[in-house]
Amino acid sequence: MRIGLLTSGGDCPGLNAVIRSAVLHGIKSYGDEFVGFKSGWKGMIEADYIDLTRQDVRGIAREGGTILGTSRTHPYNHPQGGPVKIAQQLKRHDVDAVIAIGGEGTLAGARRLAEDGIPVVGVPKTIDNDLKATDYTFGFDTAISIATDAMDRLRTTGESHHRCMVSEVMGRHVGWIALHSGMAAGAHAILIPEQKVSIDQLCEWVEQVHSRGRSPLVVVAEGFIPENADEALAGKGQEADGRPRLGGIGDFITTLIEERTGIETRNTTLGHIQRGGNPTGYDRVLATRFGIKALDLVHERAWGHMASLRGTEIVKVDLQEALDGLKEVPAERYEEAKILFGR
Ligand code: F6P
Repeated sequence: MRIGLLTSGGDCPGLNAVIRSAVLHGIKSYGDEFVGFKSGWKGMIEADYIDLTRQDVRGIAREGGTILGTSRTHPYNHPQGGPVKIAQQLKRHDVDAVIAIGGEGTLAGARRLAEDGIPVVGVPKTIDNDLKATDYTFGFDTAISIATDAMDRLRTTGESHHRCMVSEVMGRHVGWIALHSGMAAGAHAILIPEQKVSIDQLCEWVEQVHSRGRSPLVVVAEGFIPENADEALAGKGQEADGRPRLGGIGDFITTLIEERTGIETRNTTLGHIQRGGNPTGYDRVLATRFGIKALDLVHERAWGHMASLRGTEIVKVDLQEALDGLKEVPAERYEEAKILFGR
């Protein structure tokens, strides 16, 4: 078969490992040929692609980002998009199947295309770990590792200056990155979108820690909803796919903590640092296994399905199942972390 690969949505450590394993498995096990569409769905729609040979994927599993480039182009919103034109384009370039590697937005596009007759399978990626039907996505472990390291560094300054340090992390509308990196760094308070915490409660935790001579570390997810607000702070416009660009909550709570407690407080927004650089060993393995599975799904003609992690097994799931709402942090996981907050 001649198979097209694309990476779409935000970049994520592990994308290259998927590309490598799918290509190597296809060439070695099935005699397949590969093309890589540049910049996500855009490259597929505009037939902007490169051939992907064994040499092209050599050594890329350890590299962050994506060798194909990415974008947030939607396959139905582009002027040459939609199933009819896409089918014609794939036929013209002899592409028999597409492997779309991406998060929620990309996989929703893949599902719709599969329903409309395009031979496409998915691979879930996101540092946010918010996709249902898979226990973990690659990129998450790397993000946790980077954020934890950053917080360890923030604590050095916090302890030296007797300050409260706030760290705003990504994660969109779920708190997985905040919960895991906060626990790993020994945070004294973690704020996530799934749980309402009052500013009074937060200040109490901060004061308790400060009064026993420690420097409080507060980790806040970008999607945390402040007291008396209905939505997360999103004063930075919209992404290309129309979703609100989150951010700003770290500065917001920093001001409130300082005003109410009198404790000198600083915010650091970790931002895209969390998505950058090389994937961890865990993410390379997960991404490699996803790539192998995706290739098998193509040969099964399991259009509209994706590779997924269940326990330690890599399995096939319907994209519909993965897109049925967000995978939120369960209340028990938050309560468990909360045992160690404050005093
Ligand atoms: O979905 C991954 C993610 O990094 C989110 O955590 C974050 O809100 C968003 O993407 C940022 O997107 P962009 O790179 O377009 O600013």
